Amino acid sequence: MQVPAQYQGREQSYLKHRVLKEYLLAWGHKLGSLAQHRRVRLCYVDGFAGPWQANDAALADTSIAIGLDALEAAASTWHDKGYPIDVDAYFVEKDPHAFANLQRFIEGRTGRVRTQAFPGEFGTHVGNIRRLLDGDPGFIFVDPTGWKGAAMRFIAPLLADSRQRDVLVNVMFDHINRFKDDPRHFLREQMREFFGLADRDMPAALSEEELFALYRRQLKEQCGVEYAADLAIPHPTVERTKFRLVVGGNSPAVLEVFRDAERKVIGAEAASVRDQAALRAKEEKTGQLTLLAAPPATDSRYESLHARALAQAPRDVLARLATKNSLEFRKLWPELLEAHHVTRPELGKLVWKMYKEGTIRILNLKPDERSVKDDHVLATRTSV
Ligand SMILES: C[S@@+](CC[C@H](N)C(=O)[O-])C[C@H]1O[C@@H](n2cnc3c(N)ncnc32)[C@H](O)[C@@H]1O
Repeated sequence: MQVPAQYQGREQSYLKHRVLKEYLLAWGHKLGSLAQHRRVRLCYVDGFAGPWQANDAALADTSIAIGLDALEAAASTWHDKGYPIDVDAYFVEKDPHAFANLQRFIEGRTGRVRTQAFPGEFGTHVGNIRRLLDGDPGFIFVDPTGWKGAAMRFIAPLLADSRQRDVLVNVMFDHINRFKDDPRHFLREQMREFFGLADRDMPAALSEEELFALYRRQLKEQCGVEYAADLAIPHPTVERTKFRLVVGGNSPAVLEVFRDAERKVIGAEAASVRDQAALRAKEEKTGQLTLLAAPPATDSRYESLHARALAQAPRDVLARLATKNSLEFRKLWPELLEAHHVTRPELGKLVWKMYKEGTIRILNLKPDERSVKDDHVLATRTSV
């Protein structure tokens, strides 16, 4: 897999756009399937639209085009089968020059998705966009340059009127990490706003994991979503996190789709993306061409999180079952996917292995069944 030339030097954006595309495609297809029963309208909000650092004249390397293409695919799939589906996309951009480009782009576009762009600050348009969403299913993308303007109190109203709304927030870890403990008053205030902490100050010296646990918890509490999970986009050439994408929503499918996208993009594709970035950096430094060896199958940063998750998950399964007499698998897997960097099929295999080893029981297993299913009732070996 070759990283498109427009993304050279900002491979983290490529990975972000790949996750956005994978998630939106699955989201659009899934929610679009409602059109089989009734007329459906899906809404998309890109609150920090850009274009920003675009190198492609057709904006192919921006969330604007990537989002619209994914929505277009979902709309066409269901429309072409004869089902009634409408898709509306709303964009907000503060920078006047970028806004003019955005406006020109959407005006020149044809397709099924209806588009509207608003100039100015995301926060000032929230009330109006909330009315436009009108209780319909939606996907809200929040991708600020740093943290300013992306206060949690701006996100909450857009998730308020339907349980079929997901949010994807790009939390700029490398920026936030530099300023999160800065004592200056205006920065304390901005952090509180971003994390939705009202009068409370940010706890001091949080580690990366603690910081994201706080953000996920706040997203659930302040925006009323049932589930929140994150994935880490690595720096292209250095062993650290560049930013994390945090997803929130009310359906367990949110977690299923998110962890699938993580495995595909951050696990498999990132290995090759980071290999190419490292090679380019080396060539720029030495001026010599280097041959590209086969990259590893999985990126090392994802692999360590994934390995840790596979080791920890059986303990969590047992701990959860210990608090209940028995529990359906459908009640168990969402909370495990929320906490761990594993996919649902992987978790299913792991639980089946626990059953085969005799660590847990499946109370309603039928003789011909060979894998764990949602309606299977799980119990520890000793529960009555
Ligand atoms: C990180 S860039 C977005 C990139 C875009 N989502 C993409 O992936 O291609 C952030 C954009 O938000 C704009 N922006 C910054 N503050 C804003 C605010 N408060 N409201 C709306 N847009 C804002 C910036 O001008 C910039 O174009």
